[in-house]
Amino acid sequence: MTAEQAKHRIEKLCKEIEQHNYNYYVLDKPTISDYEFDMLLEELIKLEKQHPEFLSPHSPSQRVGGQITKEFKSVKHKYAMLSLANSYSKDELTDFDERVKKGLGIVGNDLFGSSVEYVCELKFDGLSISLTYEHGKLTQGVTRGDGVQGDDVTTNVKTIRSIPLSIKGDYPALFEIRGEIFLPLKVFHAINKEREEIGELPLANPRNAASGTMKMQDSAVVAKRKLDCFVYYMMGEHLPANSQYDSLEKAKAWGFKISPYTKLCNSMDEVFEFINHWDKKRDELPFDIDGIVIKVNSFKQQQQLGFTAKSPRWAIAYKFKAEQVSTVLESISYQVGRTGAITPVANLKPVLLAGTTVKRASLHNADIIEKLDVRIGDHVFVEKGGEIIPKIVGVDLAKRNPHSHHVKYITHCPECVAELVRREEEANHYCPNENGCPPQIKGKIEHFVSRKAMNIDSLGGETIEQLYDAGLIKNIADIYDLKKEQLLPLERMAEKSANNLLEGIEASKKIPFERVLYAIGIRHVGETTAKKIAKKVKNIHALENATEEELLHIDEVGEIIAKSITAYFADEESRKMINCLKSFGLQFELSEEQMQSTTDKLGAKTFVISGVFQKHSRDELKDLIEKNGGKNTGSISGKTNYLLAGDNMGPEKLKKAEKLGVAIISEDDFLKMIE
Ligand code: IVH
Repeated sequence: MTAEQAKHRIEKLCKEIEQHNYNYYVLDKPTISDYEFDMLLEELIKLEKQHPEFLSPHSPSQRVGGQITKEFKSVKHKYAMLSLANSYSKDELTDFDERVKKGLGIVGNDLFGSSVEYVCELKFDGLSISLTYEHGKLTQGVTRGDGVQGDDVTTNVKTIRSIPLSIKGDYPALFEIRGEIFLPLKVFHAINKEREEIGELPLANPRNAASGTMKMQDSAVVAKRKLDCFVYYMMGEHLPANSQYDSLEKAKAWGFKISPYTKLCNSMDEVFEFINHWDKKRDELPFDIDGIVIKVNSFKQQQQLGFTAKSPRWAIAYKFKAEQVSTVLESISYQVGRTGAITPVANLKPVLLAGTTVKRASLHNADIIEKLDVRIGDHVFVEKGGEIIPKIVGVDLAKRNPHSHHVKYITHCPECVAELVRREEEANHYCPNENGCPPQIKGKIEHFVSRKAMNIDSLGGETIEQLYDAGLIKNIADIYDLKKEQLLPLERMAEKSANNLLEGIEASKKIPFERVLYAIGIRHVGETTAKKIAKKVKNIHALENATEEELLHIDEVGEIIAKSITAYFADEESRKMINCLKSFGLQFELSEEQMQSTTDKLGAKTFVISGVFQKHSRDELKDLIEKNGGKNTGSISGKTNYLLAGDNMGPEKLKKAEKLGVAIISEDDFLKMIE
């Protein structure tokens, strides 16, 4: 293929892939299979690698992420990002309507109906984002921050598939569009399931999860989180619309995702109807909302009304009251998680709340119980917020039995009676009996066999329970000692399933080191961290002997992880377990193949890559840096050792590197370093 042909093909693929992205993520109507889509993307990425000079910052290949940003640049908003005034009752909304009409000089009710049209929108519960488009291309995405300046999170924004990188139609040359980035509930629940698998506490709600994700430094991780975005507010000069409603229609035509639940209302009665509808139906939406936004439709009227220092006078938010019921707290039970964390759970007299019968509510930890001063037999108020299970928000003191007592928090584990401990600065109590407490043991085994760990899928939760109860497995190593004749007497264990199970166990001995490292369940060592550690230390022996200081040099390893690793290996039981697993033939070092492709030639030096290169794509260069023991970062700081400079590099970066005395090297210089 000639360069000219490659250029054409890249352009065609970009357009085609973006159209498929749009069909899938905005219209929800894909026209090709996921496989066909992946093939197109793969072809594009390959061509761009061969011809980096044709790689555009707006290429859909950017959506898979990969760029690391150590510190987000703070950017001043061109137009301040104001918030909305809140209201909580119909009366407050009637006052708003009157203020609007007074401001517009409309007295009383117009004979021909109301003269003010309102647009009612859902109030999405995520984080707001301001997107800038120049000549139809997304050039910047900035968080709200303090309203005056926010963080430049463009690389992360580009991974959100429903945000167009290029738009089409009669758009203005320069404009900003604002919207809400959110995490669909389905994705939120999937993330929490995975967190539980690796022994991390679940994220509290989708809003926190979304804003936490947008602050992540590794855009490849952001890309995997499947965030979504609705736009709701356009600003700029020469906008081709006269009203909020029309501007949303325009945004839709240009390729943005707008909410399908927006309504143009001609009277406050219609507004109230919209509110009542969504107050009842919001549980059926695939994302969280926390209210309704009411906006004056006409831009001319919006202009007439203007802004206060904090918010527009032409719009208001109506916040839903979290649905609340009162019921009796019958008892408190204490659950023990895989990591030994104790969670107190309230057992309630069953009651209907937001469409489901609630029997239990989270009490989180001892502090919350003390703060609420809930007592057994109390009438408590239960609310369902964004949280996964409902929570107790207060006590109906008028109904309290005067002879009731404060709750005495347990001092010993309800499962294994070990004395509980409370670590400094942690809210939870823990059962320290890691290797002798049944739920902790079973949880560890479940994690060990899970798909991303040892992938022994013939060993499900129920079988683990059976094997544990029968005394056949007391720890992860016992799995490798199971014999067929021990399995066959178990209930629902026929010859075939026993064979399957043993085959699965045997096959797991080939699982590579990095996954074994993840599987053994060192606290805070997730899948990605395990990978980075394995690559760096190469075998378990080196990890066992590494000091905290040495561990801190590994990418992604901070103080908490480093401490957790050294604590793990300081424990004799853990070391015994590793030796035992080793004797069964599990992989505790990188394979020959992995070893050959890694060196330490770059000796932990830190690199920043900028510009376009002749011989390798940026991703390939990043890979080469890591494989040779170097570190990649996104922005230049005092800690940067080398700026690997390509063509068309930003002048700012160059200036900064020169100022800080960072060595500037070419692609050839770099290749010589790793020769
Ligand atoms: S309009 C000038 N519309 O609510 C204000 N905001 O305090 C423009 N939000 O920060 C905002 N859904 O993050 C608008 N349909 C919607 C919204 C919405 C959610 C958020 C937004 C804003 C906050 C208001």
